[in-house]
Amino acid sequence: MGHRITVLGTGYLGATHAASMAELGHDVLGVDVDPGKVAKLNDGEVPFYEPGLQQILQAHLAGGRLRFTGSYAEAAAWGDVHFLTVGTPQKTGELSADLTAVEAVIDSLAPLLTTPAVVLGKSTVPVGTAAVLGARLRAVAPAGDEVELAWNPEFLREGFAVQDTIHPDRLVLGVDADRPGTAERLTREIYAQLLAEDVPLLVTDLATAELAKVAANAFLATKISFINAIADVCEAAGADVVRLADAIGYDDRIGRRFLNAGIGFGGGCLPKDIRAFMARAGELGVGHAMAFLREVDNVNMSRRAAMVERTRLAVGGSLLGARVAVLGAAFKPDSDDVRDSPALNVAGQMQLQGAAVSVYDPKATESCRRVFPTLTYATTALEACTRADAVLVLTEWEEFRQLAPESLAGQVGARVVIDGRNCLDPARWRAAGWTYLGVGRP
Ligand code: UGA
Repeated sequence: MGHRITVLGTGYLGATHAASMAELGHDVLGVDVDPGKVAKLNDGEVPFYEPGLQQILQAHLAGGRLRFTGSYAEAAAWGDVHFLTVGTPQKTGELSADLTAVEAVIDSLAPLLTTPAVVLGKSTVPVGTAAVLGARLRAVAPAGDEVELAWNPEFLREGFAVQDTIHPDRLVLGVDADRPGTAERLTREIYAQLLAEDVPLLVTDLATAELAKVAANAFLATKISFINAIADVCEAAGADVVRLADAIGYDDRIGRRFLNAGIGFGGGCLPKDIRAFMARAGELGVGHAMAFLREVDNVNMSRRAAMVERTRLAVGGSLLGARVAVLGAAFKPDSDDVRDSPALNVAGQMQLQGAAVSVYDPKATESCRRVFPTLTYATTALEACTRADAVLVLTEWEEFRQLAPESLAGQVGARVVIDGRNCLDPARWRAAGWTYLGVGRP
């Protein structure tokens, strides 16, 4: 049986969650304070690139199971389950998370809750936030103690957002052990289709659920920085980090995924989440326990400078006046997201050092222009590479893996390719007369 649910906040997470809940058979009302976003979504337009999302959005708008509004009054009256899906970005000039949007949702909704309701938090928050928000809700809501807050963190990846929502590895639900309510029963009903497919549901306390999310991202970030640190050793020793990752990845305890060395991690999640985690651990008096995350962050950020340096050496010692082609600007392939993108950062740094940088990305050009309007944006990979002194592949789009080094050779000024994601076949490029430079490979 379908539930009437609301999804509060229609950014990346919320828009995906709303459409996916409709896909699971629920009647969904998405809510956002930005009238532009609401209008776009009601028109069936996804404001960002995410494979498969537009189709299910349009299908359920047409089928009447999904719509969007700016009104919290409508939201409170509509459903008895409210998902909280707004963003928690890094505070300016601090490591900690900015909870303004999360608090604004609670403060807008609470006074309108006159009947029993469950609020399910999905946003990534510092541990302890859910307990505070729960108390705030109960204090303000006319329904008082009949309003329950539980935490259901989201683990989806951009580029696989719909698939990760509908077929997740696991579901986590944190409930307030001191106030048993209906959150677990409702969650089981809402995700019944997933549970029937044997997706595990772990019911925990609130703090464990909040922490499980940041711990997962901290682990992934650590894994990437680990292999990037190993890549430096490989370079010094003449070893190949790609083969090394294959060799250790066969061990199930290690696993091959997230062991790709390159220019490091970016995006709207991993970087800000490990910083907020360090900040929260400090507040809890256990900053020392998370001190290694500072090194994880340092290793990661140093990849960007290292790529600029590698390019400087490859073009003869100075970036001044050098023509550099940058292929890929999104923080990862199949996304147009350039938040804290290592690729865009490297492109920008090189331009600021006097290089003429031409950037091509299959999907992210518009988002790049907004944050970095002064770079030159090409409309094809070939155009970006015209007369280039070096070609840098900084996001591993399939289109770049498929590039034919033979046909590109006639276009460039010098046959130098720097593979910032180790996604090209070195033998093939070298055979076509290119100088190939990867990360952590001879
Ligand atoms: C990440 C997590 O993977 C999700 O589980 C989590 O739900 C999400 O953050 C979130 O907190 O919302 P996402 O930011 O979409 O998802 O991207 P990832 O696929 O994790 O990639 C992050 C960055 O790491 C990218 O810049 C990618 O290029 C880089 N990366 C990834 C590497 O440099 N090497 C690898 O081996 C893997």
